[in-house]
Amino acid sequence: MPEDRNERLLTWLRDAHAMEREADTMLRTMGSRLEHYPQLRARIEQHVDETRGQMETLERCIEQLGGSTSTAKDAMGSVMATIHAMGNAMMEDEVAKGTGLSYAFEHLEIATYRALVLAAREAGQEEIAAACETILAEEVAMADWLFANQPDVIREFLARDAEGVDAKR
Ligand SMILES: [Fe+2]
Repeated sequence: MPEDRNERLLTWLRDAHAMEREADTMLRTMGSRLEHYPQLRARIEQHVDETRGQMETLERCIEQLGGSTSTAKDAMGSVMATIHAMGNAMMEDEVAKGTGLSYAFEHLEIATYRALVLAAREAGQEEIAAACETILAEEVAMADWLFANQPDVIREFLARDAEGVDAKR
């Protein structure tokens, strides 16, 4: 049976919350490990703060629809993030892989919020649509920053690597 529009919206908001839990763990792990890439680290730390705010916004939207966050989905997000972060940490080019993974993840977030804005609007939940648009703008800004700064990160990595100094993170 098809879910009614508020139920679909609620499901997607909870999925987004679990996704942000994953982002939070992944970004915090990556940010705290970076030693030689201060600009990347600073931008990641800024986005960790934004991610915390996004989770609170999502919680308010979920409560507005009479729901609560899904512990099981959030736990799964956390497990996925730990697997990602551990996989990255094992690579000798951790910073390069991490930057790529972050860029990819931001685009998953962008697609998620674009869908959420539409679902909220279809359900007549303008306030939730506006909240998701605000989050969407933060994800786009982070993706743009990563796109613009990836060359600097990669050049720095290659230079350190060629010098034989610690380049990994
Ligand atoms: Fe996010």
